[in-house]
Amino acid sequence: MNKAIYPGSFDPITNGHIDIVYRACSLFDEVTIAVFDNPSKSPLFTSKERVDLIQCVFEENRQVKVEYFSGLLAQYAESKSIFTIIRGLRAVSDFDYEFQLSIINRKLNHNLDTIFLMTDQKFSYLSSSVVKQLSSFDATIDSLVPEAVKRALQSKQNISNDSQEISCG
Ligand code: COA
Repeated sequence: MNKAIYPGSFDPITNGHIDIVYRACSLFDEVTIAVFDNPSKSPLFTSKERVDLIQCVFEENRQVKVEYFSGLLAQYAESKSIFTIIRGLRAVSDFDYEFQLSIINRKLNHNLDTIFLMTDQKFSYLSSSVVKQLSSFDATIDSLVPEAVKRALQSKQNISNDSQEISCG
């Protein structure tokens, strides 16, 4: 089986990420979306909420698995015996960081390769922060995130930063 890992903080998952996952699914038999914490960010959603939201989005897609991992990506890949990382590139400005990340990962685990997919042009401006900011000002985000994410953002704003149960329906 041809497998790949799509890692990220996914706080929250957006339609730009989802586009990358579907395209990765046409290249690989199985794609594991690995939810990590980036120590330099303060997530709005807990790791469980982020995983639950992604599971809602892909609940009918058997090619997609979702997991949380708190260590190094290279260690996670080793533990899963998966040696291909998928990353999306939105613009040239993403390249330096991604280049550095892929080299560090390969230094840590020499079997690891990173494949870059160009983000669809219509999502090239999109980020999780943009979505959170728009939502916090009640701007419409219908074309940017799935319905479950939109509702989770709205209820997060209503109940401040407390942990919440995610509902798909
Ligand atoms: N569509 C929309 N948005 C996209 C996108 C796409 N196709 N691709 C990236 N983004 C956005 C994300 O929403 C995110 O936005 P934000 O900054 O507003 O949150 C931003 O681009 C980058 O986020 P992400 O792809 O999640 O990267 P990250 O820098 O938060 O984390 C990890 C990347 C998880 C892969 C990295 O931190 C990691 O490997 N962590 C584990 C520890 C480790 O091994 N570190 C490496 C050695 S130091």
